Amino acid sequence: MITKAVIPAAGFGTRFLPATKASPKEMLPIVDTPVIQYVVEEAVASGITDILMVIGKGKRTLEEHFDRSFELELELEAKGKLKELEKIRAISKLANIHFVWQREMLGLGDAIRCARHHVGNQPFAVLLGDTLMQSQSGVPATRQIMEVHDRFGGCVVALEEVPLDRVSRYGVIRGELIDERTYRVDDLIEKPTPAEAPSNLAVASRYVLTPDIFSYIDAVKPGKGGEIQITDALRMRTAAHHPMHGYRVQARRHDVGNTLDFIKTNIVYGLAREDIAPALGEFIREISRP
Ligand code: UTP
Repeated sequence: MITKAVIPAAGFGTRFLPATKASPKEMLPIVDTPVIQYVVEEAVASGITDILMVIGKGKRTLEEHFDRSFELELELEAKGKLKELEKIRAISKLANIHFVWQREMLGLGDAIRCARHHVGNQPFAVLLGDTLMQSQSGVPATRQIMEVHDRFGGCVVALEEVPLDRVSRYGVIRGELIDERTYRVDDLIEKPTPAEAPSNLAVASRYVLTPDIFSYIDAVKPGKGGEIQITDALRMRTAAHHPMHGYRVQARRHDVGNTLDFIKTNIVYGLAREDIAPALGEFIREISRP
């Protein structure tokens, strides 16, 4: 049973400067809640009880967000703001959350490697800290791939179909469909050109990894962008005939680390909120009128 998750959240977030100069992109709010809280809530709703967050310079607010704030709690209590008090207390009770530092931003593979001692000898989930997966089935995206791990063992990646002209932003798989949404993965390529891409199935920010992955991360050389890529480690592991599956998740990906998606995500989540939807919908209609 998978109970541990790793959330890499140490990246520089250069696509979101200047907002990310002194504060983490994972703390950007979607409506009124930081991205990272949605990610932690998805992990918890998937059955995870123990979370390791990989952080770096300028990311202390992530620790503070999940810690108790006694002064704020006293203030809210004194003012009778009990609903807010409840919300604030709930955050620090979500899960056991630990933090580890990635000393140099050497890439996602390296960030995951920082979790080696924490995860020990058990399979674990990985959720990118800057990406929301909005479930379309009621089952959280991480839970969906954990269930594939329960069936087949080995590593599992969440997949989404992307237009061919956008494959070069992602890791892309070559695989064989074995049931409605599950693929046996035979190969992976990080950021291929459309001509190189073996499919339009992109790895979508959620993984289940087995601890043997660490020796492959150690073995890979820096790849695209000079970074240690988890895709390259998974590719090497697959080439060594270790089973790996992909699951086309029933979820919509929102990569909040890119500015246009951030704005779109706020609109999507705002329209899903009863208290905001009517006024926001009216505003959108108003500014869209010719
Ligand atoms: P991104 O690929 O979005 O990289 O990382 P980035 O460096 O944060 O952003 P840009 O491209 O400069 O705008 C995906 C996830 O992996 C984490 C990031 O924090 C993000 O959650 N990451 C990336 C690390 O933890 N360490 C790294 O060295 C790189």
